[in-house]
Amino acid sequence: MFIDDVKNRRSVRTFDGKGVSNEVIDDLKEYAGSIVNPYNIPVEFVFLKKDEHGLSSPVLSGEKEYIAAKVKKGANADVAYGYSFEELLMYAVSKGLGTVWIGGTLSRDKFEKAINLKDDEIMPCMSPIGYAADKMGVKEVLMRKGVKADSRYNFSELFFADSFDTPLTEDKAEELGIKTALEAVRLAPSAVNKQPWRVVVTENGAHFYEKKDKGYDNGTYDLQKVDLGIALYHFENQCREDGKKLAFKQADPGIATPEKTEYIASYVW
Ligand SMILES: Cc1cc2nc3c(=O)[nH]c(=O)nc-3n(C[C@H](O)[C@H](O)[C@H](O)COP(=O)(O)O)c2cc1C
Repeated sequence: MFIDDVKNRRSVRTFDGKGVSNEVIDDLKEYAGSIVNPYNIPVEFVFLKKDEHGLSSPVLSGEKEYIAAKVKKGANADVAYGYSFEELLMYAVSKGLGTVWIGGTLSRDKFEKAINLKDDEIMPCMSPIGYAADKMGVKEVLMRKGVKADSRYNFSELFFADSFDTPLTEDKAEELGIKTALEAVRLAPSAVNKQPWRVVVTENGAHFYEKKDKGYDNGTYDLQKVDLGIALYHFENQCREDGKKLAFKQADPGIATPEKTEYIASYVW
């Protein structure tokens, strides 16, 4: 079940140093080729070997391979990117592989060169791919503490009923058949574990918003919109598994928003 993978996943930054077989890489490549997102914006994945390109990240150790991804600049490119890349990373997790979204702590110039990034493209993130070491490194332990990586906001702090004034109860979410899907959103990874997703639920839809923090939007793309794409993927995929039929819509329902909160997209049923 998708929700089990979501619950069991954690970011992996310390790898076993053994690398991944060609068969596993080929399987990931094949899966990557099948991925689409609700914006119909193509996201291109590039598989890279660490030694071949002299790549690294100060927060990683023992990794041998990376997956990077690029997308053409444009409206919603960052959201679409989060959706598609998370689909591939959760597929890798389902195969027992370790991953971690990396958007800040990487030798960015080298990665962008290695994937031949063009002026009209962006590469917000990459992820190493491999098997977790038996023990986390000291750096990794400290990093997890620093961002409180094992905790998340409560259900009632993230999800609302009809307006931002009323928290959604778990009973109501259950009645609507979206409780597990919202739980899959709540447990998703996000940049610096900020969890910027907020969802207002009505009788026939779930409206996703970004609660913006300072320092994530560089004018070309917004890492917290990548987080929102991740949340959309978690919601949609869990609903699909639960047999809940959804339609994706970009139509602001006009619900009054708190400050620094931006409408992103909706799923209606
Ligand atoms: C868009 C995005 C960018 C991230 N960038 C980094 C990064 O640059 N360096 C890093 O160590 N972790 C990064 N992370 C991982 C988060 O810190 C991590 O997901 C969060 O702390 C929650 O921990 P968990 O994934 O183990 O549940 C990023 C996550 C996301 C979603």
